[in-house]
Amino acid sequence: MSEISKELLDCFRPPAFPGSFFLSFEGIEGAGKSTQLKHAKEFLEEKGFRVLVLREPGGTSFGEKLRKSILESKEPINPLAEAHLFCSSRAQLLQEVTLKELSTPGTVVILDRYLDSTIAYQGKARNLGTQTILELHKHFPLNLVPHLTLYIKISLETSHSRQKLRNIPKDYFESQGDDFYKLLIEGYEEAARLFPDRISTIDGEQSFEAVQEAICERLESLAQSRQEANK
Ligand code: TYD
Repeated sequence: MSEISKELLDCFRPPAFPGSFFLSFEGIEGAGKSTQLKHAKEFLEEKGFRVLVLREPGGTSFGEKLRKSILESKEPINPLAEAHLFCSSRAQLLQEVTLKELSTPGTVVILDRYLDSTIAYQGKARNLGTQTILELHKHFPLNLVPHLTLYIKISLETSHSRQKLRNIPKDYFESQGDDFYKLLIEGYEEAARLFPDRISTIDGEQSFEAVQEAICERLESLAQSRQEANK
């Protein structure tokens, strides 16, 4: 595991808006992230929150252009260029949407992928190192992290078998081989070790219902504490 200084780790904090909160969902292809995210949205809406779901990269008109240039690229992108593109999309989304929305009490912003994707994909799989990724994010607004990150963990084998079932065309990252996926899993594990209070690892090998239940359990206590802050 890389040695990351406490000073660098301490740069990262959740946005301080009372009564609102920020969530992210993470996982490799086939983890069930999108379906679970949809369910989490409904769960929080039933509790009275206004919920917005945003995706990374993208979510703003500038970010959507970056998304296309990355995911539809026919030629390999330099890893550092790739990391900067994701950071650019993220900084724009934070300024234009996330922070504005969170300033309304009772709001939840859910990010479909965030910082930990960059740690796993660019830091580990593209070999830039976690330190480089965290250094890129240490200034405002990129130093803002979710109150809770739900990492749905599955094995490489499960990812393969679920992708086969889906049989949809693969994008820039999805067409990478097994070694790339193994590194992604290691990258997520490293992120979970570095940020144990923020990242909650959910066993994604369980049934859909069991995963859903584990997520709702974690959301329940967070939602309660944020609603109390809003009183
Ligand atoms: P998307 O179609 O949104 O993937 P998924 O449905 O798996 O979430 O494409 C986003 C791709 O970009 C995905 O393969 C992960 C990758 N990615 C990075 O490499 N770094 C990042 O920082 C982010 C946010 C995504």
